[in-house]
Amino acid sequence: MRILITAGPTREFIDPVRFISNSSTGFLGYELAKAALRRGHKVTLISGPTPLTPPKGVKFVPVITALEMRAAVNRFYPSSDCLIMSAAVADYRPAAPVGKKIKKTKEILTVRLKKNPDILLEAGKKKGKRILVGFALETENLIANAKEKLRRKNLDFIVAASLRGKNNPFGDKKSHFVIISREGKVKKVVCDKRKLSNIIIDNAESIH
Ligand code: C5P
Repeated sequence: MRILITAGPTREFIDPVRFISNSSTGFLGYELAKAALRRGHKVTLISGPTPLTPPKGVKFVPVITALEMRAAVNRFYPSSDCLIMSAAVADYRPAAPVGKKIKKTKEILTVRLKKNPDILLEAGKKKGKRILVGFALETENLIANAKEKLRRKNLDFIVAASLRGKNNPFGDKKSHFVIISREGKVKKVVCDKRKLSNIIIDNAESIH
């Protein structure tokens, strides 16, 4: 398969040197790319800023903002058989980014935010025969919320992780994940990201 993988956070600029972002490490997306390469798939990795080195053999497309990531996905999606959207796309961006560095003169500074496009939702509307995989991080109602996302975004399966209690799905440690299929099958796994990546590629191959 030609597999398109997105990874890492995006940065949404307030001014030329300040941005809003999130805690994504990009680790899962890069592990997914390695797992897919090991199985002989052709891999394009679209990545937000991370300190990780792209695996040898991928077509690497670095991006910074959500809008850049959307443009890159739109460019490679038509020629892909599978999209694995593991990037933590920022949901909002500053509505009116300032061209010059903001001075610290105001006691209270307000930044208005505008909703970013949902890249996966857009991809789901033109799914065709492609396999679509999404992720969900939730603090409550993990399975119900993940199932709703799976349906709304027209996915083949979704990988959900809880942000509750001690479970920390960021980085490379073992944590709890739930994989939910389009047919509603729910599989719980406890593993690290390398193992999780193998399971995700297995699942995509079994649908293809
Ligand atoms: O709706 P929520 O952000 O929880 O959905 C997460 C899934 O949607 C992830 O797979 C993420 O990569 C994708 N997403 C996206 N574009 C956004 C926000 C999330 O493609 N603007």
